[in-house]
Amino acid sequence: MKLLAPSILSADFWRLGEQVMACVEGGADLIHFDVMDGHFVPNITFGPVLLESIKKHCPLPLDAHLMIENPDKYIPDFIKAGAEMVSVHVENTPHIHRTLELIKSLGAKAGVVINPGTPLSALEEVVHYADFVLLMSVNPGFGGQKFIQRSIERLRKLKALLQDINPSVLIEIDGGIKEDNIVEVAKAGADILVVGSGIFHSEDIKAQTNKLKDMLIFSEAL
Ligand code: DX5
Ligand code: ZN
Repeated sequence: MKLLAPSILSADFWRLGEQVMACVEGGADLIHFDVMDGHFVPNITFGPVLLESIKKHCPLPLDAHLMIENPDKYIPDFIKAGAEMVSVHVENTPHIHRTLELIKSLGAKAGVVINPGTPLSALEEVVHYADFVLLMSVNPGFGGQKFIQRSIERLRKLKALLQDINPSVLIEIDGGIKEDNIVEVAKAGADILVVGSGIFHSEDIKAQTNKLKDMLIFSEAL
């Protein structure tokens, strides 16, 4: 089953609880949190306290995408706050085997994230230890960017690489996914599709979530 993961980065933070619940009612499968520190990426967002607040009311799994330096230091806090999935970038995690093992030892699913400019070969070793790969289809840092079309080719290549090495690893994709490309992206091999502005910038968040989820179900029948 293809999973839809709304990214709250594009939410109206004044109405955050209400908007997250609209995603829940619209059929979202998990909620994606873009954690940024102003060092690894040129933007600052939020830390574990936000997940903790949402966790109290939201029945869906929380997915923490860490775009921060020294992620090991903060991973226990995010898992304690309620993250069931935690991902770290291959580009800035020097002892990534240890980091993924840390995430798993604390009871969460461990993901490795790869930026558009990083060769897929950087994943060859690490996918032995990961539960999922998060393929960036924009450069991390901001919502609302244009999907990098080459990501489709990378998705297909990544799928093939995982078939050879570790087929149980799920593929998540993040950045520039909207109703005009979600079916193409799903068909190219993504299992979990992150959508930020394509959900939160719409007039009716519940209806839009529902529409995109239906499109994912449709993509599986093709
Ligand atoms: C970018 C983030 C994405 C972003 C996706 O650094 O990782 O999750 O919020 O937003 P859209 O769907 O607007 O590209
Ligand atoms: Zn993200």
